[in-house]
Amino acid sequence: MATLGHDVVGIDVDVEKIAALNAGIPPFFEPGFPEILREALDSGRLSFSSTMASAAGAEVHFLAVGTPQSVEGDGADLSYVFGATRELLPHLSAGNVLVGKSTVPVGTAEALQEILDEAETGATVAWNPEFLREGFAVGDTLHPDRIVYGLAAGERGQRAKAQLDAVYASPLADGTPLIPTDFATAELVKVAANAFLATKISFINAMSEIADVVGADVTDLADAIGHDNRIGRRFLNAGVGFGGGCLPKDIRAFATRADELGVGSSLNFLREVDSINLRQRERVAALALAQLGTDPTGKRAVVLGLAFKPNSDDMRDSPALDVALRLHDAGVNVVSVDPAAVPRAQQLHPQLTTTTDINAALTDAEVVVLATEWPEFVQLDPTAIHARVKTPTIIDARNALAPSDWREAGWTYIGLGRP
Ligand code: UGA
Repeated sequence: MATLGHDVVGIDVDVEKIAALNAGIPPFFEPGFPEILREALDSGRLSFSSTMASAAGAEVHFLAVGTPQSVEGDGADLSYVFGATRELLPHLSAGNVLVGKSTVPVGTAEALQEILDEAETGATVAWNPEFLREGFAVGDTLHPDRIVYGLAAGERGQRAKAQLDAVYASPLADGTPLIPTDFATAELVKVAANAFLATKISFINAMSEIADVVGADVTDLADAIGHDNRIGRRFLNAGVGFGGGCLPKDIRAFATRADELGVGSSLNFLREVDSINLRQRERVAALALAQLGTDPTGKRAVVLGLAFKPNSDDMRDSPALDVALRLHDAGVNVVSVDPAAVPRAQQLHPQLTTTTDINAALTDAEVVVLATEWPEFVQLDPTAIHARVKTPTIIDARNALAPSDWREAGWTYIGLGRP
């Protein structure tokens, strides 16, 4: 927002995070982010604060707090959304807009508007879902592929629209499509998009299970069906499945919300999407264990990747981390390699051996699992590393390698749904 030319205060309850951000230190790994953070701080348009009173005087308030999976079940924990809104109430003025960015169950925007109205703030809610991908967050934010506004009916909604149009003047001038709609639709757009993406991935992973049984190649299959524009090739990469802080918890929360609304059967298929996805992690761990013989205890396995996807240090619901933990629990001497996630892994999962040094990790390995397709892993030279390992077996859990290159270099290559 500061890069787009606005004066911005970022507020968070985490005092240490705020201090680091004010010093220009990003709290996570995201390509391009350190640079725009520094520029925005230097421009004087951006500052960070841990007190809600710093919100006073602003015209537009973005609500971007987390909505994690609740500890009791599959639904979303909305305590941060409602907590932050209640704390903000004394600092809102008439004509302000509270813009929801968090991923929420449908019906939340309306509930927030009631809270603002009961407190007689004169402020209006607008719902403006976020579609950025980790690893591409800066580009996706500055050049979104669409902007959605969920607006209140009548004059109130139109005023909020004009305020949001001013916020997004730059991407709108670049021709970014704008979809102004109602609260419920805007809330649903977000979860429907993530549910669709998750379904695409589980669809191709289900095909990979079939392909394994009949000796077919799921990568050729994805290429062939992907040429049909109605299907499209993106998000049809079979492998260890989807993870991260969004897709897994969003499909569970969406199915739970449908149950609450009395239309659970409409989204029952999302539970199947979830179980296909979780099965992939089991499948990869079982494949690795099968390579280690009847007693895997103490045998050395290398898992390439800890983050849930490349260009991120995020390990929330990470398939790569899950596979490493499963092998560790089975008594295997696992070494996980990741270019970005090691510091965080050492804090959160100290039982795991982690390193950024691929060559050291590979030494004497009896099985190697490619679990996150970082470029440095995909570009490994199978001939150069062959002599380092004890048993040259690679499980390509992202179907990201060329099987013939690895086989020609003397490796046993195992993909998912690839002969
Ligand atoms: C996802 C959505 O793509 C964003 O549009 C959305 O804004 C975001 O969630 C969110 O709700 O905040 P993200 O979680 O950053 O973004 O990651 P994705 O790029 O969607 O990847 C999710 C997972 O799917 C990763 O683990 C990735 O490895 C996996 N994946 C992706 C596959 O297994 N196969 C594919 O073909 C594509």
